[in-house]
Amino acid sequence: MTTRGRIPEDVLADIRDRASIVEIVSASVTLRKVGQNHVGLCPFHAEKTPSFSVNDDRGMFHCFGCGAGGNVFSFITKMENLPFPEVVERLAERYGVTLPARVEDPERERRDAQFALNDKAARFFERHLWEGAEAEPARRYLSERGISRATAEQYAIGYAPGGGNVLVRRLREGRHELDEAARLGLIVARTNGSGHYDRFRGRVMFPITNASGRVVGFGSRVVPGTPSDRPDAPKYLNSPETPLYTKGKHLYGLAVARSAMRTAERALVVEGNFDVLALAEAGIEHVVASLGTALTLDQLRVLKRVTPEIVVFFDGDAAGQKAAEKSLPIFLEAGLWGHGAFLPAGDDPDSFVRREGPEAVKSLLEGATSLFDFYLDRAARGATTVPARALVAAHVAELVRKIDDPFAYDMSVRRAAERLGMAEELLRRSAPTGQPAGPRPSAPKGAAGPEELLITEILRQPSLAPRVQDQGAFALFEGEEWRALGERIAERVRTGQPADAAIVLSDLDEELVARITGRLMVDAPDEEANARIVSDCLATLERRARATERREVIRRIRDDDARGNEALVEQGLREHIELRQGKRT
Ligand code: UTP
Ligand code: MN
Repeated sequence: MTTRGRIPEDVLADIRDRASIVEIVSASVTLRKVGQNHVGLCPFHAEKTPSFSVNDDRGMFHCFGCGAGGNVFSFITKMENLPFPEVVERLAERYGVTLPARVEDPERERRDAQFALNDKAARFFERHLWEGAEAEPARRYLSERGISRATAEQYAIGYAPGGGNVLVRRLREGRHELDEAARLGLIVARTNGSGHYDRFRGRVMFPITNASGRVVGFGSRVVPGTPSDRPDAPKYLNSPETPLYTKGKHLYGLAVARSAMRTAERALVVEGNFDVLALAEAGIEHVVASLGTALTLDQLRVLKRVTPEIVVFFDGDAAGQKAAEKSLPIFLEAGLWGHGAFLPAGDDPDSFVRREGPEAVKSLLEGATSLFDFYLDRAARGATTVPARALVAAHVAELVRKIDDPFAYDMSVRRAAERLGMAEELLRRSAPTGQPAGPRPSAPKGAAGPEELLITEILRQPSLAPRVQDQGAFALFEGEEWRALGERIAERVRTGQPADAAIVLSDLDEELVARITGRLMVDAPDEEANARIVSDCLATLERRARATERREVIRRIRDDDARGNEALVEQGLREHIELRQGKRT
């Protein structure tokens, strides 16, 4: 039986059957019954007219405004920012479902212990900041930089004492494993084997948390004018790579920013810790910092789960423009447009907001430009000769190839053609590979492909699943996630288990679940339309599989040709013709 984490699936199904999603949602949203659904104002984004819809029969919710959607479990997870097992425990208790005894999971226990250790360190630093006499310059420094105690506490800022082994001693007193603390980058083992010393000494400490607020690592800064402010001490020092912290994966301030980003329906990205803090101090809380690297694909994916509207602050100088240009491909790869707000030269968001105030930040944000337009304008301006324009066309064609969504792809090609004063065909054709430029086959996270549509129809009518499976459709699915899901539904139907969306979707990506629930919420097509969609999907899957096969044959022909093997070339060409005529499958 499939289990999710350590909770068996039938227990989850049991909870879901007993729980009323309308009841659960009603605790935080006022709902009104309209037709089969209950509707209300979405708790996940700001709205004035209700687009949040709950369906008790299906046990699902969906917001037509922001796309949030899921079942009872995901509702509470999202609403209260709780880890999944805790949500399950809570619902089990409420609805009288007995959870099986916890399965021993040493891996997980170790991780929990590591988080607990980081947490302990964060609290140690925080206590030192507010209570230690030694931390007086640090407290003064924060206040000089305009950070109030309330804001500092919101971000759990702390102070690491300068003694050299204060944390080591505290951990030893608490009988903590020093090796584990060293693995987490909190302390460092001396190379001569004689014990450990504190990694962070005499510094302001910034806990870095993951999306659910657990401490994965630390950033730190020297306090000017203190003994720790030595010429050889780095101004900023972060945790090294540890089992919990990976450079380029986390965002500073995410735990605080998450709910603010949902309300603002936008995420702001800055470079530095103090940029986050100064903006928060000015009441702008939907901000995260990229922690000493240019924004990475991982970080964008994290943000995208909260909102697709992302604005990055760039310096107003030439370096800032270059940075804006460089960030575009990564946004496109994440399936995001991305916007840039440009600061006056010499400012960072910290200095800007402190001098000009929050209103000035807001007008700067209103003037944010799409990174794609920004790139096109700069490219167009620089390309005055024919060869220069051809080069730009090749660059743009390569850039747009990163876009998965066919509509977004089409829109960008058109926009680029218009801005650059070129024929669209030029951009479509000048893709640098032999393949025709165009949307790539839909990956699980791209636009709705045949996988997503077929699964949606099957969820409307699970009894279809075994037949679709027998026709070999799941085997043609691209993406392991989809294949597993299709097979799982078929298996459940065959063995007489319930296979409705609220149960089987729980393992999928949040974004996909939201899209599927969205479709399930609107009225079901009639049986005839349903059958048509299913057969269209099957046809698409087969067509795509044949196209892939043809491409394979072509590649083989090229190779054989290059090797001068005429007989094989001939044979390949015959195969290709047969494939085209649909004689082979
Ligand atoms: P900067 O060195 O540009 O400084 O680092 P800053 O933000 O203006 O620093 P203040 O205002 O003097 O305090 C930019 C940001 O890059 C990150 C930090 O978040 C820093 O705020 N950074 C820098 C790191 O995370 N690690 C580093 O080693 C360096
Ligand atoms: Mn600064």
